[in-house]
Amino acid sequence: MVSSPASTADTYTAIPLAGLVAREPAPFPLYLRTAEDVWVLYRPAEGPLDESHLGRLQAEGIAQLFIRDVDRRAYFGRVERSLDGILRERGVALEQRAEVLQGVALSVATELLAAPPDRDTVQRANKVMLAACGLMNRDKDALRAIRRVLGASDGLAEHSLTVGFLCMALAKVVMSADSTVMVQAGLAGLLHDVGRVGHENLEHDPEHAERGAELLRRLALPKAVVDAALSHHERFDGSGYPHGLRGSHIPEMARLVGLVNTFDKIYSTQQPRVGVFDALRILAQAYRGCFEERMTVAFLQLFR
Ligand SMILES: [Fe+2]
Ligand SMILES: [Fe+2]
Repeated sequence: MVSSPASTADTYTAIPLAGLVAREPAPFPLYLRTAEDVWVLYRPAEGPLDESHLGRLQAEGIAQLFIRDVDRRAYFGRVERSLDGILRERGVALEQRAEVLQGVALSVATELLAAPPDRDTVQRANKVMLAACGLMNRDKDALRAIRRVLGASDGLAEHSLTVGFLCMALAKVVMSADSTVMVQAGLAGLLHDVGRVGHENLEHDPEHAERGAELLRRLALPKAVVDAALSHHERFDGSGYPHGLRGSHIPEMARLVGLVNTFDKIYSTQQPRVGVFDALRILAQAYRGCFEERMTVAFLQLFR
């Protein structure tokens, strides 16, 4: 172990040991915390690391290592393929697993929505949602842990990811706990505003719904995901767009995404800023009639 103290200018993120060993050496240094605010270099970038090293750490009672915050992107890229395995590690605190999920998911969402997506990136997003779905179905506190690591959505990727995770949780209650449906809901949320990509500067852009649906149709995404992009601004009372559909004429997945999308908009953009519970109150009161009652009620209960 190299024990030179780390630079005090850096800030650090704790990471679980799971998922760290891979064929390629880690392109970033790993640190140990030896006391509050004291980090020492454990492995330099590209330093060798195998299961026996991790075994020795565990034998010493060390359950986590640290990376510099500037290396978070590289770290999440590295563990993307082992995400499901990390989320299954019961030895890793749920909060820490939720943080890895959020980090990986945000890096994939950012790529997914940086330009009109391709099949390969959609496939990666699908895998992330599948892993998230597994976590939600295994652990009843997963949603609470995921919610804690989601901040206010200040960009399209953050907004889309928050909507995706919340759609998945709501679908589990109002549609089906079947993982196919839940993953579709996650993807529907993640991709609902894909028509905005390349037009982010437009404040008012009602065409994004049809543009997005067309894009997703070309990528051969499931009908429910395409429907959600097309109809997430339709309102239960017929006041929405693009077609002024009403009630059950709006596809169920679009009703679900529309509700969650509106919540995140209130929570993230309302001025002055509001907390989660005020955002829920506004959703239930100011948007009365816009959404299906049973979905609104179930959504409020998710936050209990
Ligand atoms: Fe939208
Ligand atoms: Fe949206």
